[in-house]
Amino acid sequence: MERLLITGGCGFIGSNFVRYWLAQHPESRIVIYDKLTYAGRRENLLDLWDSANISLVVGDIGDQELVRKTCTDESINLIVNFAAETHVDQSILGPLVFTDTNVRGTHVLLEVARELGIRLHHISTDEVYGHIKDEHQSLETDELAPRSPYAASKAAADQLVQAYAVTYGIPVTITRGANNVGPYQYPEKAVPLFSTNAILGEVIPVYGDGLQMRDYAHVYDHCTGIEAVLLRGEIGAVYNVGTGREMTNLEMVDIVLDTLGQDHSLVRHVADRPGHDRRYSMNVDKLRSLGWEPKYDPRQAVAEAARWYAENRWWWEPIRNSEFREYYNRQYAERLAGTQTT
Ligand code: NAD
Ligand code: TYD
Repeated sequence: MERLLITGGCGFIGSNFVRYWLAQHPESRIVIYDKLTYAGRRENLLDLWDSANISLVVGDIGDQELVRKTCTDESINLIVNFAAETHVDQSILGPLVFTDTNVRGTHVLLEVARELGIRLHHISTDEVYGHIKDEHQSLETDELAPRSPYAASKAAADQLVQAYAVTYGIPVTITRGANNVGPYQYPEKAVPLFSTNAILGEVIPVYGDGLQMRDYAHVYDHCTGIEAVLLRGEIGAVYNVGTGREMTNLEMVDIVLDTLGQDHSLVRHVADRPGHDRRYSMNVDKLRSLGWEPKYDPRQAVAEAARWYAENRWWWEPIRNSEFREYYNRQYAERLAGTQTT
């Protein structure tokens, strides 16, 4: 029987993965290991906490003793590492915690995996490739060229995982995901921020010209991609996970506003993010070779996500009414002051 330690399982992608995995593999035992930062929320798994084969350990992945004890006590045979600080804008405001969790935390997991002989699957990101030129699609063999503190911390973690495979021969796999959208994404990220702002009739702060390009992939397809690698991936290998198709942020905003029936006059172009990556795009043929195909195209993914926020105010209203406000003001008050409608 698979006995999985899912780090960061109370976050956006981790909680979607836990729900997906349990539905597909009900015989598995899942131990969620999560620090419950602002982005980690028990309510993301509200429907599952009563299930006998899932439990939660609240802890930091940097706490080597607790990670080791949890893996030993629970006879864990697979660690899937979703735990991370994940928002580029937060990494610009306060970068050091990104190194603590994303680099040192991943390193601790590798040490425990090495000591106890556990397979580790690491969740990386397309941002490790840096922003890429028109036409090119990042391949798993491309050099890493991160440009934000977040991306640099993820690239360091990605390389540590690969170095452990080379040096110690431990069984690892890595997936590099595109921008995910879907249920339970904390509203600091663009699609849930824009959706919830639109629902509230608030303005939509688009950084710069809004012509940056992203592959907005549905989190469901990320979960099936990770599953394909866990079940059929080559040990030691890296796999890109996305749709292979990108759109501009302005196109994404149009889909959100049209889906929610809101007026396009809500759009405001605001001061750009420092070092804003212009374009991400990945080639996903290697994952396809495992028999995986995405179910959603990016337009459907964004529309589905926007609808989820319209239908699940219970989830995001308490977040937006609490500590999120302070972040929002810090990030946007000055940017929005004096902006004009497009
Ligand atoms: P998230 O911010 O929603 O969740 C992160 C989770 O990690 C939270 O539950 C948080 O409490 C937990 N966590 C943070 N620090 C921790 C620590 N020190 N110890 C234990 N738990 C800790 O993030 P997400 O969007 O679900 O991203 C999950 C993973 O996927 C991350 O590794 C991220 O880099 C990667 N990723 C995300 C995207 C995306 O679009 N969101 C795309 C590609 C890759
Ligand atoms: P985000 O969801 O933060 O993901 P990432 O920066 O990791 O790709 O942002 C997606 C895109 O939307 C990115 O190009 C930045 C842009 N963006 C805005 O224009 N305004 C915003 O308020 C936010 C949060 C993002």
